[in-house]
Amino acid sequence: MFAKSLLGAGLLASMTILSSAALAQTVGFSQIGSESGWRAAETTLTKQEAEKRGIDLKFADAQQKQENQIKAIRSFIAQGVDAILLAPVVATGWDAVLKEAKEAEIPVVLLDRMVDSDKDLYLTAVGSDLVHEGEVAGKWLVDTTAGKECNVVELQGTTGSSPAIDRKKGFEQGISGAANIKIIRSQTGDFTRAKGKEVMESFLKAENGGKNICALYAHNDDMAVGAIQAIKEAGLKPGTDILVVSIDAVPDIFQAMAAGEANATVELTPNMAGPAFDALKAFKDNGTVPPKFIQTESKLYTQADDPAKEYEARKGLGY
Ligand code: AHR
Repeated sequence: MFAKSLLGAGLLASMTILSSAALAQTVGFSQIGSESGWRAAETTLTKQEAEKRGIDLKFADAQQKQENQIKAIRSFIAQGVDAILLAPVVATGWDAVLKEAKEAEIPVVLLDRMVDSDKDLYLTAVGSDLVHEGEVAGKWLVDTTAGKECNVVELQGTTGSSPAIDRKKGFEQGISGAANIKIIRSQTGDFTRAKGKEVMESFLKAENGGKNICALYAHNDDMAVGAIQAIKEAGLKPGTDILVVSIDAVPDIFQAMAAGEANATVELTPNMAGPAFDALKAFKDNGTVPPKFIQTESKLYTQADDPAKEYEARKGLGY
């Protein structure tokens, strides 16, 4: 187990204590749930990465509830795990349980979403620059519309989650300065396909059957896929009548892009666990304190990037 002082004190002291530390073998993983294809892939890859490294992974599915995540973390602490991976459903409300983990000398690594707590309460966070992802999507729309008037509807992720907050902010930054682009409606679709469809239906109804809408920006691909269905059912052509840009790069969005029904996506790698386990190993083996944020890449894909090939490359990866 890692000593408590490692999380707050200097590297020198940390290294002394680490030399006698045992190898981390048991890791608790508090996962949000399975709201999206991306989330399913992250779960699959985390289990695979743990197996590859001989780590005993204790997996807890919180079914979208923070209280379940807090219970799972407390249970991991009681079991004396060597480290905890946490994909936090929302950004706030973690201080008490993270302090308990720190008191128990168990390092916590955040996966894919951030928390508002003090940085001393976790070892590191692995994720993408969520603001940047939104900005890339916004800039793509600015380039694509090339000055043409464009009313945008936005499907936000789970309220209070860091990707919903940051992807909104990033997109607004990306379109700032483009007077032709206006967000006319914005509502949460909770990162799910079903909610994405339902909310898009209400947007279409409220906006003259969709005739007032030029583009959809969805905080994830699953909501975009649900919305594409709603657009088709409203008698419009997604990808043509209404441009579709979203985030994640899951296989289904590439299929939609190959069919001309989606236009662009920003990739979020589902393999957050690989870098997390590497950081934990280096920390435990030789006291290497990881940076507070380990950033993964965010790449833009459009219809020009051979979406059928991208679909084939991703379809077996647990999405
Ligand atoms: O936190 C990452 C986001 O959570 C993904 O973009 C989304 O698909 C998931 O639900």
